[in-house]
Amino acid sequence: MTKKSKEVYTSLLKDSVSNVPEYVPGKTTSQIVAEYGLDPKTVIKLNANENPLGPSKKVTEAIQREAKNASLYPTADASNLRRALTEYTGFPIENIVAAGPGMDSLIDALNKLFVGDGDEVIIPVPTFTYYGISAVGFGGIPVYVPLNPDYSFNADAVLKAVTDKTKIIWLCSPNNPTGNLVAAEDVVKLAEKTNAIIFIDEAYVEFSEARSLSFLLKEYENIVIGRTFSKAFGLAGMRLGYTIAPAWITSGLLRVLPPFAVSVLAEAAAIAAINDKEYLKASVEMVQAERQKLIESISKTSYKAYPSEGNFIIVDVSPKNSKAAVDSFLRNGIIIRSCDSFQNIGKNTVRITVGTSEMNQKIVKAFEFLKNEK
Ligand SMILES: Cc1ncc(COP(=O)(O)O)c(C=O)c1O
Repeated sequence: MTKKSKEVYTSLLKDSVSNVPEYVPGKTTSQIVAEYGLDPKTVIKLNANENPLGPSKKVTEAIQREAKNASLYPTADASNLRRALTEYTGFPIENIVAAGPGMDSLIDALNKLFVGDGDEVIIPVPTFTYYGISAVGFGGIPVYVPLNPDYSFNADAVLKAVTDKTKIIWLCSPNNPTGNLVAAEDVVKLAEKTNAIIFIDEAYVEFSEARSLSFLLKEYENIVIGRTFSKAFGLAGMRLGYTIAPAWITSGLLRVLPPFAVSVLAEAAAIAAINDKEYLKASVEMVQAERQKLIESISKTSYKAYPSEGNFIIVDVSPKNSKAAVDSFLRNGIIIRSCDSFQNIGKNTVRITVGTSEMNQKIVKAFEFLKNEK
């Protein structure tokens, strides 16, 4: 027997794969507890924009009821969930695709559908990093376009970056991590002046005071909306997202996604979550009320907190750097996120998920602690 060296096989790897940048996730509570020797019961986790209220009781009951069907495949295209989403979104089933793991799977599916070797995708930064990571995996070239210095959206800069190789323009509204919106007029400008697909990531739309941009789908055949159950619905662990898209894109997505892309438990959980309107209302109302109070209280500690339409805020912790701030918060048992891994936001910004009133009071105290630290 001759054993061949691994290089014989690693040479099979696609060139594009070796260029895929790393996605830097927020750490889990158990990772942090082990690293910093904290008491898990007292740790407050506000680094991943999860819902601090935990899942709805109706959802956990639905998951328990559905557990007996875990040995069976679900419906291949999650049609029950898609039907439940027709009422929630106001769009018919031929405009809706649901899939897991999370909206991330639909970002992949769109790249699989539209992006091949040498194609370009435009990504205004700072923003959610997975758009670029996913594109590179399909041989695409991310073209990063900076937001304005105040993080507002710059449609003209995006238009300037468009070439005949541009396949997808990735927009995020409310934007992670900056919390601001993209205006409908800017989306219209891009939709009309380019032949690219305009993706609008509305992972955080429920928390916004502004309306969804999904109404633009009635006018344009090149707009896709991405949504998730991870945030307002409190189901990040279920890993489920959906798109609202023109029928021609929906049928393309259904062809390229793996069959059974939504597990029986995720489908049952999501349907129960859509039906639990009180939970959704409570989580949105909590964020909308607490977000403003938090921004005002942090601003009084002399750090600059930016306005936000999401369930998170960013804070400039200068003259401290973001890593020092994250460490200082950990000493107070609070896990927040350094923005270092986002492009074009510098080394002095942290992102904090809006918590309950009690959690937010602890955040403000942690900022006072940070200010007084050497
Ligand atoms: C803007 C944005 N889009 C998409 C996602 C991914 O969502 P999901 O958990 O559905 O994969 C996130 C996750 O934090 C996000 O912030």
